[in-house]
Amino acid sequence: MKKSAIVTGASKGIGWALSKVLLEYDFEVIGTSRSGDVPIEHHQFHPMQLDVTNRESIKDFTDSLKALGKPIDLLVNNAGVGPDLRSPLPDEISFEQTFNVNVKGVVMLTESIIEMVKKGGMIINVSSKMGSVSNCQRSGATAYRMSKSALNMYTKILTNRYNGIYKIASIHPGWVKTTVAPDNIEHATLTPEESAAKMMDFILSDFKHGVYWDAETNQELEW
Ligand SMILES: NC(=O)c1ccc[n+]([C@@H]2O[C@H](COP(=O)([O-])OP(=O)(O)OC[C@H]3O[C@@H](n4cnc5c(N)ncnc54)[C@H](OP(=O)(O)O)[C@@H]3O)[C@@H](O)[C@H]2O)c1
Repeated sequence: MKKSAIVTGASKGIGWALSKVLLEYDFEVIGTSRSGDVPIEHHQFHPMQLDVTNRESIKDFTDSLKALGKPIDLLVNNAGVGPDLRSPLPDEISFEQTFNVNVKGVVMLTESIIEMVKKGGMIINVSSKMGSVSNCQRSGATAYRMSKSALNMYTKILTNRYNGIYKIASIHPGWVKTTVAPDNIEHATLTPEESAAKMMDFILSDFKHGVYWDAETNQELEW
């Protein structure tokens, strides 16, 4: 049977590129976006609607997955936002948006569908090295940094809960030319395709359960 993957936030950027790489590796891919549209045409690709900040949307998505009845080999929690990525000081609106998507959204979605992940399957949380507490030397992007630190804690919690059942990791995809921040397209070092190829190398590797991994430099990060 073909392996199956869910990639949240597949409409563009890293999630879009990773979905395409997974298809090249013969995965069946369910790729989500808030509109339900994903610009990928492939017989093994299934676009689905999902807003991780919306309880009803998570429930509908979960029900649709149950109806499909297909066990999931890989869940990639990729959907994320960074409205304060270039802000020196925190503000309430960015905080709410960022934590709703990057933290609460990831946790609520994962808890809702985790039973459909096959034993021996993988859960990859797309974090950032900006979430590393021990390496933090800057003072901006408060909500974004804190959201990825919180996501890393969720990775740790899942690691403890599912030891020997699933393989879990937090991954930094590199600095990637996407719309997550206004100047990334111009200044970032990796294309989404390059980042996705590095993430795929990690997914295919025999990685250590519970690791926090930098896909750009191919080494473990300090929490
Ligand atoms: N780019 C970088 O340099 C970089 C570095 C480190 C980590 N990351 C992380 O990589 C991940 C992907 O980011 P990206 O750079 O590819 O950004 P992007 O191009 O802006 O893509 C973000 C994706 O998240 C989806 N999304 C946003 N809000 C959502 C919601 N409420 N519910 C469901 N999906 C939602 C978007 O889909 P719709 O808007 O179509 O719904 C879109 O597909 C994020 O977690 C980001 O923090 C990126």
